Amino acid sequence: MAFEPRAARSITVRAAAKINLHLSVGAERADGYHELTTVFQAVSLFDDVTVREAARLSVRTVGEGAAQVPDDPASNLAARAALRVDPDARLDIAIDKAIPVAGGMAGGSADAAASLLACTRLLGVDWGRAELSAAAADLGSDVPFALHGGTALGTGRGERLSPVLSRGEYHWVLAIAKTGLSTPTVFAELDRLRAKEGVPGAGAQPPDELLLALASGDVARVAGQLHNDLQPAALSLQPVLRRTLRAGTDAGALAGIVSGSGPTCAFLCADEESAVRVAAELAGAGVAKSVGTAHGPVPGARFV
Ligand code: C5P
Repeated sequence: MAFEPRAARSITVRAAAKINLHLSVGAERADGYHELTTVFQAVSLFDDVTVREAARLSVRTVGEGAAQVPDDPASNLAARAALRVDPDARLDIAIDKAIPVAGGMAGGSADAAASLLACTRLLGVDWGRAELSAAAADLGSDVPFALHGGTALGTGRGERLSPVLSRGEYHWVLAIAKTGLSTPTVFAELDRLRAKEGVPGAGAQPPDELLLALASGDVARVAGQLHNDLQPAALSLQPVLRRTLRAGTDAGALAGIVSGSGPTCAFLCADEESAVRVAAELAGAGVAKSVGTAHGPVPGARFV
């Protein structure tokens, strides 16, 4: 039997990006978070996190936007996940990124979820589903969904999940913006716009029509129900996104939306063929740093 030396043991977990099909934001809470109702869909854009034993805790990132990912363990979410599993964790964490950094697609949360799974397995920590979910919620509002994947309804600050019945496959075009947006800045901009207009937070609206559309599997019906309360705030901070959204629908997408806090714009298309056509046209329009396609729903964090 082949014997693997301990130091060479490594575990890789893959986690997916998300798009918020619906995001309604209520008022700011005493803890600074906003009460919200969201429907998440995990899509086929993945980060891989590989964890191996080492003399000390370190983290490094390669791939899309790697230079913008912090490499100090105190602020990197994947390293913080390792410390949540073992406060004395001595691990080398390598992140291979495809999910845009500060793109509104929960890339950091995907890395945290992947790291949580990899570290528990590598360190032999036997956490059940409840402990994993609690640790995930401590790390960030979107981390429980990054573990879960598929399609889910999120409430609270987004960390409380319930299952959603979703039929069919959804084909997206993603327009990655030239510069990122910070999530707290976008929430603060929404508060500022609401205060200026004298409109109180509408409150977290239940997305009943969207849930019916997802259960029916009718892509056009789902396209008609995409909604994001953070979109006006993202557009206010990056007005160029209006052009991006228009270019996507002009190119033949059924609908376009800012993903989460942005600035990534996600365009739902009738089918895979249409998505490929829209992506080519959008890339030619020069409104984004890069343009790609993805499909959903896909599973949450899993071993590879
Ligand atoms: O949970 P997470 O650390 O990812 O959130 C990042 C920031 O986004 C929070 O510090 C907060 O400013 C904002 N946020 C919010 N309401 C939410 C989720 C996030 O205001 N429901």
